[in-house]
Amino acid sequence: MTSSACRPEASGRLEPRRTADGSLTLWSERFSECFHSAAGARAEAAQKFVAPAGLDRFASGRRLRVLELCVGLGYNTAALLEAAEGQDLQLEWLGLELDPLPLQLALGDADFRSHWHDDTLQILEQLNQRGAWRSCRGSSGSWRLGDARRQLPLLPAEWIGRCDLVLHDAFSPGHCPELWSLEVLAALARLLQPEGRLLTYCSAAAVRHTLELAGLQLASIRAAGPAGPDLAEPDLAGPDLTGPDAGAGNWSLGTVASPMPLCGGPATIGLPAGSGPVVLQPLTAMEREHLLTRAAEPYRDPDGNATAAAIQAARVERQQQHPGESTSAWRRRWRLAGRG
Ligand SMILES: C[S@@+](CC[C@H](N)C(=O)[O-])C[C@H]1O[C@@H](n2cnc3c(N)ncnc32)[C@H](O)[C@@H]1O
Repeated sequence: MTSSACRPEASGRLEPRRTADGSLTLWSERFSECFHSAAGARAEAAQKFVAPAGLDRFASGRRLRVLELCVGLGYNTAALLEAAEGQDLQLEWLGLELDPLPLQLALGDADFRSHWHDDTLQILEQLNQRGAWRSCRGSSGSWRLGDARRQLPLLPAEWIGRCDLVLHDAFSPGHCPELWSLEVLAALARLLQPEGRLLTYCSAAAVRHTLELAGLQLASIRAAGPAGPDLAEPDLAGPDLTGPDAGAGNWSLGTVASPMPLCGGPATIGLPAGSGPVVLQPLTAMEREHLLTRAAEPYRDPDGNATAAAIQAARVERQQQHPGESTSAWRRRWRLAGRG
């Protein structure tokens, strides 16, 4: 099953692939990247998005306002919905997505379907067919198709400062810098209510530094036990657990950002059986120093319509003027393996 069906704005040819836990992911020709960590698409939704959302912070019966940037196959949507409704929380959900085809392909896949309750699948079917859904337990949502950069300025005014969760699951900054620009991340930051959280798998220095420039406080998502690095994001190119960061126990699984300081004991809500808990921890000294290197130079897209190549090229030029050390020097200092 390979698809190049005609879609208005699309991610090019999509090739189905299996992650290590058997769950479906897709490889996008346009972005030259898989939609999920090779270690497991289902596990990634749980460990990097749903558990760090800290759903147990909210009183039973509360309605959560959620923006999901990049709906893709719908793993994060389904996992969040099931976890929220399991906690007696309702969602007011809005998804932004370029291409409806990934969700269609997921709904046609037996393994994908096997992860979710029938009610959840019906919601994803409604989204696929009508662009909006309503659950029998009071949650509702809709998506807006097209380039998210055009949709962000059109969000309802009442969402500004009132969003409980923003899930940011774009392709990596190297392949899709347009969704990690200072302008996009600042717009997302403005949506958050004071204790709201932006969740992402990404721990890239540019993204973390930009989230700080947007006024947010950061925490690193880590596995609570020793077995953490499998789902780690490749930006930091391979953990070296003999290095000085080994004391932290494992590698970052991603980043949580909030207007308020973050901390958190083991988070388990939304984790499927067999997934260990995750914790939110302050950035380590190594991670903080990474934000001072040239790798932390933000992506910029002031007009909101630059191509990925133009955004990358302009950033490379600014990096040449950056006063910080090179990422390779930082890597050597921290005795990290992998690319510089
Ligand atoms: C990593 S995948 C998302 C995976 C998804 N969260 C899931 O749970 O399956 C990235 C998604 O971003 C979408 N995308 C790429 N560029 C976009 C843009 N400019 N605006 C909105 N969506 C975009 C792609 O179509 C793709 O579905």
